[in-house]
Amino acid sequence: MMARVTGHGGRGKAPVEHRPRIRAMRMTDVAHVHAIDSAVSAIPWPRHMLHAELGKSGTIDIVCVIGNEVVGFVLASRYADVWHVLNVGVRPDHWRRGIGRLLMAEAITRGDTVANLGYTLEVRVSNTPAIALYRTFGFIDRGVRPGYYSDNNEDALIMWRGGDPDDVGDGR
Ligand SMILES: CC(C)(COP(=O)(O)OP(=O)(O)OC[C@H]1O[C@@H](n2cnc3c(N)ncnc32)[C@H](O)[C@@H]1OP(=O)(O)O)[C@@H](O)C(=O)NCCC(=O)NCCS
Repeated sequence: MMARVTGHGGRGKAPVEHRPRIRAMRMTDVAHVHAIDSAVSAIPWPRHMLHAELGKSGTIDIVCVIGNEVVGFVLASRYADVWHVLNVGVRPDHWRRGIGRLLMAEAITRGDTVANLGYTLEVRVSNTPAIALYRTFGFIDRGVRPGYYSDNNEDALIMWRGGDPDDVGDGR
């Protein structure tokens, strides 16, 4: 379900846009992305890592905005011959409105535009919503990294969409 256009700016003013839009993440979004990540992740990225990610080449760093508010993000980096989806988050008050799907679809569209590569990611084995989201994009289970998450020693499920897991080098 997508968010709808519901508001207006009052008589004589332009309508307020309530449809979700995707755009490139900017340095000025970092505080908002950090706030979302802190709300949804047990191990949020420190701000300096978000800043550093934005400064790199070979990344897909996008946000979803509604009006002027950042409501979600995806960070992905190209590692050797695969896109690695590093982090995904949607503000909890916007869950189940299609924002995560919109972000993943745009990230994959942008990745495919740059190069025809596969995509990989790690996700907590208990994270049913995210695993379900990734499966809708054709990600499949390719293995487990035991004890990957430092907060509770939880295993990570390794998922791939296309690409060849055996072809990946260890360089970025
Ligand atoms: C995972 C997450 C990004 C999904 O975002 P979202 O905007 O709520 O997802 P969408 O509304 O676009 O849902 C798309 C699909 O994902 C799956 N999904 C999303 N939330 C789900 C849930 N709570 N239970 C089961 N499936 C779910 C469904 O297949 C859904 O399709 P449907 O609504 O047609 O059934 C969001 O729950 C989140 O931010 N979680 C915390 C952070 C996180 O886990 N990030 C991933 C780290 S690897």
